[in-house]
Amino acid sequence: MKQIHGLDVDPATDIAICCGQTEAFSAAMFAILNPGDEVILFDPSFETYETCILIAGGVPVYVALDPPYWTLDEVKLSNAFTAKTKALVLNSPHNPTGKVFNMDELGLIAEYCRTKDCIAITDEVYEYIIYDNEPHISLASLPGMQKRTIVTSSLSKTYSVTGWRVGWAIAPSCVAFAIRNIHTKVTDSAPAPFQEAAVTALKSPPEYYNSLREDYESKRDFVYKSLWKMGIHVDFKPSGSFFIFAALPETCKLTDVEFVEELIKQAGVVAVPGCGFFHTSNDSSENVTTYYNQYIRFAFCKSDATLTSAVQKMQQLVDASGHLKFL
Ligand SMILES: Cc1ncc(COP(=O)(O)O)c(C=O)c1O
Repeated sequence: MKQIHGLDVDPATDIAICCGQTEAFSAAMFAILNPGDEVILFDPSFETYETCILIAGGVPVYVALDPPYWTLDEVKLSNAFTAKTKALVLNSPHNPTGKVFNMDELGLIAEYCRTKDCIAITDEVYEYIIYDNEPHISLASLPGMQKRTIVTSSLSKTYSVTGWRVGWAIAPSCVAFAIRNIHTKVTDSAPAPFQEAAVTALKSPPEYYNSLREDYESKRDFVYKSLWKMGIHVDFKPSGSFFIFAALPETCKLTDVEFVEELIKQAGVVAVPGCGFFHTSNDSSENVTTYYNQYIRFAFCKSDATLTSAVQKMQQLVDASGHLKFL
């Protein structure tokens, strides 16, 4: 945190080691929420946040990001804040879209958190999987934000060890204390042998992170180009994470779920329907319902051989018009 974000963190008091980001996030919700507290989430978003907020007695409030580039609209953000707002969740790089929130957006979010006295919980699990030479900026590093931010992340994506279940929350000492308190009651401890291994992983040289990035960037480019060649025109090229969130063409008669079913049956290739990441908007003027079943999330965190084989299987279904035959 010091080296990359310039933040002083006391390892004895400001960190809670948990079973992955998933537990760190859930323990953070139990640590900060009182029943009825509202938590702002962006839509689409990673699916575990909503459930954790609800289990902890909180109320999720959604701010729709605007397709095709998933831009953040200040009016929508502003409208989401009420007297009950306790916290806001920021996941950047973002699952499912691959969006990396830019400095203007981070500045806006930070300004609202400061002026509305709101806690930010960041999910930075894709912090090292970021493309086109962009830096990863932690919201906690913006002026006045460290004292109101809970940073969560884990070993899972950076070291490709999702099964090890080692993650963390970094927060002001009183919040980190409360998170550790919940954590010890719920899971007692993250796996000790993997915490030992984490020490080695976290000392990896810069070349490790560069090669991780380059490797994923070439996979991203390969899958992105391949999808275009099959008639799946991806408007938004991801700047981070290992996902491509592709819109089905307007002419496609299938929903996202039907498309994925056909892809599995006909090509033996699996993708995730986008509807799992969208939520009914609290605001009836929102138009999320018009596009929530038109997106497919493709993951490229696989070997080059597996990706090439998946693309070949899909290409066999391309018809004379150059499109996947069931598009
Ligand atoms: C945005 C995001 N956060 C958290 C996780 C889970 O992380 P962990 O394995 O550390 O619990 C994932 C995994 O898919 C993810 O995409």
